[in-house]
Amino acid sequence: MDQKLTIALSKGRILDETIPLLRDAGIEALEDIKSSRKLIFDTSQAHVRLVIIRATDVPTYVAYGAADIGVAGKDVLMEANNQNLYEPLDLGIARCRLMTAKPVGREEAAGRLRVATKFTNITKRYYAEQGRQVDIIKLYGAMELAPILNLADRIVDIVDTGKTLKANGLEPEELIAPISSRLVVCKASMKMKYAMIQPLLERLGRVVQSKK
Ligand code: ATP
Ligand code: PRP
Repeated sequence: MDQKLTIALSKGRILDETIPLLRDAGIEALEDIKSSRKLIFDTSQAHVRLVIIRATDVPTYVAYGAADIGVAGKDVLMEANNQNLYEPLDLGIARCRLMTAKPVGREEAAGRLRVATKFTNITKRYYAEQGRQVDIIKLYGAMELAPILNLADRIVDIVDTGKTLKANGLEPEELIAPISSRLVVCKASMKMKYAMIQPLLERLGRVVQSKK
């Protein structure tokens, strides 16, 4: 059995908030992650290594056991909807909301609603639960543009301060889910490496609790 514990961290804004949590739990990279081009880092705990990957790839690495543990936004986890993961800990970082949004003052379009988003699975489920038939348009970024250019009637996107929506003439509409980043664990790793994973979960749980 591989006696290393591999933790996959989302690069980008989540990473900035994850590094101090891990440090407080006793795991610190031996090099400065932020200024390095490396993707794999040894840590102050010889059996733990960190890998830095795109947020949307974290569920995949962890579900296949390529990484044992991961940190990812609830939005990314809901979209991936992967059954091979446990989600034992809410880290309480990168808090925001997943919402529908629409142009200020624009009336509901007649016929099927066109919804632009990168969260196509979440959006499909959300409107299906409401019994509404919608056309979903997959985008990879700058969703706010879609209603302005009349590509869509609605968007589904992350909202924090609401400034991005406002700056583009949009307003938040319905809350789909409150979002924060979660620790996820590969189900197979939880069985095989329980003795290494459980103490780490307890330490991180205490760190998160102390920040509340
Ligand atoms: P990628 O670069 O892989 O396309 P991304 O641009 O969505 O991903 P980030 O902007 O770093 O990556 O966002 C990562 C996560 O941070 C999101 O999945 C979400 O959980 C959270 N997040 C996104 N935007 C905000 C925000 N404005 N405020 C707080 N948290 C946010
Ligand atoms: C995120 C998200 C929204 C914005 C919301 O974008 O995709 O566009 O933040 O935050 P606000 O409500 O405080 O304006 P980000 O700044 O991460 O840019 P990117 O997703 O395009 O990388």
